Amino acid sequence: MPDKPLAIVTRRLPASILDQIRVAAEMRLWDDDDPIPPATLREWVPGVQGLYCLLTDPVDAVLLDAAGSSLKVVSQMAVGYDNIDVAACTARGIPVGNTPGVLTETTADLAVALMLATARRLVEAAEYLKAGKWATWRPMELTGFDVSGSTVGIVGFGRIGKAVARRLRGFGCRILYHDPAPDPDAGSLGASFVNFDTLLKSSDFITLHVPLTDDTRGLIGQAELAQMKPEAVLINTSRGPVLDQDALLAALRAGQIAGAGLDVTTPEPLPADHPLLDLPNVVVLPHIGSASRATRLRMAQLAVDNLLAGLRGERLPHCANPEVYE
Ligand code: GLV
Repeated sequence: MPDKPLAIVTRRLPASILDQIRVAAEMRLWDDDDPIPPATLREWVPGVQGLYCLLTDPVDAVLLDAAGSSLKVVSQMAVGYDNIDVAACTARGIPVGNTPGVLTETTADLAVALMLATARRLVEAAEYLKAGKWATWRPMELTGFDVSGSTVGIVGFGRIGKAVARRLRGFGCRILYHDPAPDPDAGSLGASFVNFDTLLKSSDFITLHVPLTDDTRGLIGQAELAQMKPEAVLINTSRGPVLDQDALLAALRAGQIAGAGLDVTTPEPLPADHPLLDLPNVVVLPHIGSASRATRLRMAQLAVDNLLAGLRGERLPHCANPEVYE
């Protein structure tokens, strides 16, 4: 019997997930709820065959070089993989796994929840009540904006963007979207393709659903915020750096837009004394877009499937760099 391959798992995971890895591999587990320090991961990787990682683990060329030619697969428990230098993996013939599909609906639920929470001032209202400030029902107290019947601009019309559109049809929204090209599914979702400027100028809500790449970093900055309506609400459930956060803070302080709902920030975690957290019209969440129990388990499982396929030398069920097989 040949020796089992060696695989690193960079975070504590449910036993049902870890047991599957143990059957197929010699597992080196960072058995902690906090991320493995990058220096420790670098010490651990030489000679390893598999790496099961999270979006908090930078996987760069230095780490890959430390791992050496034994590394057969990098499997990330997330759909986004901007923490991984995919080109460097491809150059070394290493497939990168990710977890698309299984978190689409859960993340779309959260994007809509953030729209509602921000526009209808849910967090502010709950805090108001908890602080004992609610004296009586007043006609204009804690009034916000309607999501129903509003114009929503979806930036990035991939799986999650479309799932958001499906939900918003039920709210009677007018749905605009922008993507590099018009999408054949848009008609059936009642969504209209518009250029980026039109989306910025026309939307009551703008919701971001793009991956973080060199093209999308800083996609929404000062110039884009300046084009939005004063009553616009910006929602980000993609990645923090897609948005220029300093520009957002300035726009909110100046009343250039009405509010923001952010599930992702720069950095993560956002320090508790960050000025964005002082603004009553901003709702910030700790990157919980995919955080339902069922979905996190599905992501963990898909990442196991990718890892084990890679260790066996098989094609990954979900590979972020399929060109590695060419
Ligand atoms: C979470 O942000 C993910 O990319 O899965």
